[in-house]
Parts: sequence; structure tokens; C-alpha cells
Amino acid sequence: MTTIKTKDFILRPIKLSDAKIFFEAEQDKEAKRNFMTTPETIKQVEEDIKDEVSQYKKNKPTSEKFTIEFDKRCAGWIAINQLNTPFLEHKAKIDFCLHPNFRGKGIVSKALKEVTKYAFKKYKLKRIEGWCRTYNKASQRVLEKNGYKLEGILRKNKCKNGKYLDDAIWAIVK
Ligand SMILES: CC(C)(COP(=O)(O)OP(=O)(O)OC[C@H]1O[C@@H](n2cnc3c(N)ncnc32)[C@H](O)[C@@H]1OP(=O)(O)O)[C@@H](O)C(=O)NCCC(=O)NCCS
Repeated sequence: MTTIKTKDFILRPIKLSDAKIFFEAEQDKEAKRNFMTTPETIKQVEEDIKDEVSQYKKNKPTSEKFTIEFDKRCAGWIAINQLNTPFLEHKAKIDFCLHPNFRGKGIVSKALKEVTKYAFKKYKLKRIEGWCRTYNKASQRVLEKNGYKLEGILRKNKCKNGKYLDDAIWAIVK
């Protein structure tokens, strides 16, 4: 279990008491538009947290999720996903979400910098991806500012409520 301290915020292991803020972080219009699915109850978030916490003890976890703690308060999360996939052990995917009260302060830009550096080193990665909706300009800017490059657009890659959605694939390689 890792904690990363910076002068602006702390990235620490997630815990059950983060559930309310994690839930609220994904209830606004922007989050609902940007994620394929969002939790419907706090209970559901608690179950996800338990699954994520169980990963901390594993030798080869499939994910590592951090709480972003700003001003001593849980502000959201950032996660390294798709770790240790057979034949794709050299790569992972980053996801993040901030509670609306904390957005637009440069927090995720800085958190992504820390987590990208950490993930390359800890998991000996060669490639980290960030997948976004093409209309999610804030996420794409955060990735761009951290050296991720837009590699392409997967057209009509997802289908949500009968609408086909394009995915923008960003990645950084080492
Ligand atoms: C995306 C998200 C994580 C960004 O976190 P944040 O801490 O608010 O982001 P930052 O403040 O570090 O940076 C946002 C950048 O995007 C820019 N931006 C924000 N909205 C924008 C828009 N509509 N068009 C263009 N740029 C935009 C900001 O100006 C800033 O860039 P700058 O530093 O060059 O000015 C946050 O908005 C969020 O949680 N959104 C909902 C969930 C979500 O979309 N998660 C990601 C799914 S892939």
C-alpha cells in the first residue's frame, strides 16, 4: 500500500469512508456523460472499494486505486487499471474522477504526473493509456499536459443508450 505526498495533496490507499464522496463525484451531468456506467447507490461504491482494497494485498494486482486527498478531505480518485493482464503485463490504463467541488484547480493534472511516474517504476511498464470520450476536453487536456499523445480515435467503439460513441486513445510510452 503506497502513499504519495506532494505539497498540494496526498494520494493514499482508498478506504470505505471515501464511499460517499466517490459516489457524489460520479453523480453530476459531466461524470455521467463521460463514464459508460456510474454507481447507483453508495452501497455499490462500498462493494467496489472492498474489491479494490483486496488488490492491495496481491502479488500481481489488476489495479491500484488512490484517494486524492486535498486539504485533508477526500476529493476523488485516480486508478491504475488493467495491470498484469497476460501478455500485456507491460501496459496499464489510467482512470480518474474528481468531486465537482474540487474540479478546475489543477489537481488531477498534478495527480496524473505523480501516478504516471509511480506506475512506470513500480510495475515496470512500457505503456500507459488513457481512454476518453472525444468530447471530454478536460480529461484530454490533463493527459496532454502530462506527455500523453493522442494515438487515434476508435469510431463508434461503444454503444450507450442506443448512441454510438467514439473513444479517444491517449498513451505515454517509455
Ligand atoms: C476530468 C477531470 C478529472 C479533470 O480534473 P481537474 O482536476 O478538474 O483538471 P485540471 O484542473 O487539472 O485540468 C483541467 C484542464 O482541462 C481544461 N479544460 C477543462 N474543461 C475544458 C473544456 N471544456 N475545453 C477545453 N479545456 C478544458 C482546463 O482549462 C485545464 O487545462 P489548463 O490547465 O491548460 O487550463 C474532472 O473534470 C472530472 O472528474 N470530470 C468528471 C469525470 C471524468 O470525466 N473522468 C474522466 C473520465 S475519462
